[in-house]
Amino acid sequence: MEESTPKTFHVLSSSQFDRAFLDYMCLLTDTIRRFDKSKEGLLYLKGLLAHRRAMLYFTQPSTRTFLSFQTACQIVGMGTNEIRDSSTSSERKGESIEDSLQTFSSYVDIIIMRTPVPGLCDRIAAILNETHRPIPIINAGSGPDEHPTQALLDIYTLNRSFVKLGGIDGKTIMMVGDLKRGRTIRSLSGLLANYRDVKIIFVSPPEFRIQDDLRQKLLARKIRFEETDQFEDSLRIADAVYMTRVQDEYDKDGESQKVDSRRFHLKATHLPLMKSSAVIMHPLPRREELDIAIDQDPRAKYWRQERNGMWTRVALLTKIFGVDQKIVLPEL
Ligand code: CP
Repeated sequence: MEESTPKTFHVLSSSQFDRAFLDYMCLLTDTIRRFDKSKEGLLYLKGLLAHRRAMLYFTQPSTRTFLSFQTACQIVGMGTNEIRDSSTSSERKGESIEDSLQTFSSYVDIIIMRTPVPGLCDRIAAILNETHRPIPIINAGSGPDEHPTQALLDIYTLNRSFVKLGGIDGKTIMMVGDLKRGRTIRSLSGLLANYRDVKIIFVSPPEFRIQDDLRQKLLARKIRFEETDQFEDSLRIADAVYMTRVQDEYDKDGESQKVDSRRFHLKATHLPLMKSSAVIMHPLPRREELDIAIDQDPRAKYWRQERNGMWTRVALLTKIFGVDQKIVLPEL
């Protein structure tokens, strides 16, 4: 089958995805995972994009997003280049970030970028769209504003967790922690708006409540949500508990230290309060907000969530490059 010639498919914000796309990506990811079960299956995947190259431009710290994208590229056979510290690039010599990114586009077929600068991925995508090589940009986390591929893997994990419980529709999703600066919260909330009768309970200290732009977006999309500091009451009714850490890298003057977040920490002693069918998620890395004693509880899904990220990103790469149609299970 010939590779199709898709339009430039940037991944910039979770708001670009609709329900049909999410359902398709969950199915595609499920199918791709089955190739992992045999050598022949993995070799087949490795041939899909062996003619493509990716740039991993990660100038904000990352462990799992970087590694899962790098590994996803390896799984589909893509070569990768990387910059993880702009002080080692010609930005150090005064080259603008826009020129640096356009330079990468001369050598590779896609740029996957993590940056502390909100809105930068959109700006670069718009610039590249006007060039003779308008290659795709994937936002792998942009300051406190968006982390759309994390949201995709979160949806995949929720979908899998609720497969025998009617899916994500009708579920109550509790999000806890620094909701003001948590980009995973913002991107996941946007995706949840695609599901029927979902309710989001945002649980945080007053200082870390969601920002007004997200509040307005959710109101506009008529998604049910509530903001509260009632941690234990919310735990009792939640179908999913999505924990997040304090994002103190965005502090201007150590302000996070003045917020008492301790009563929003999930401990093993809270487990009996939760539904037996509930799931516990966290985008990771975690700190003290998620007790390691919870790891052994069958409701803890965060390590699976992390691995799901790799498969979701494999699926996304095949979709972006138009080879997703080649993902049918071969006779093995
Ligand atoms: N969830 C996530 O983005 O983790 P990293 O910062 O380690 O990539």
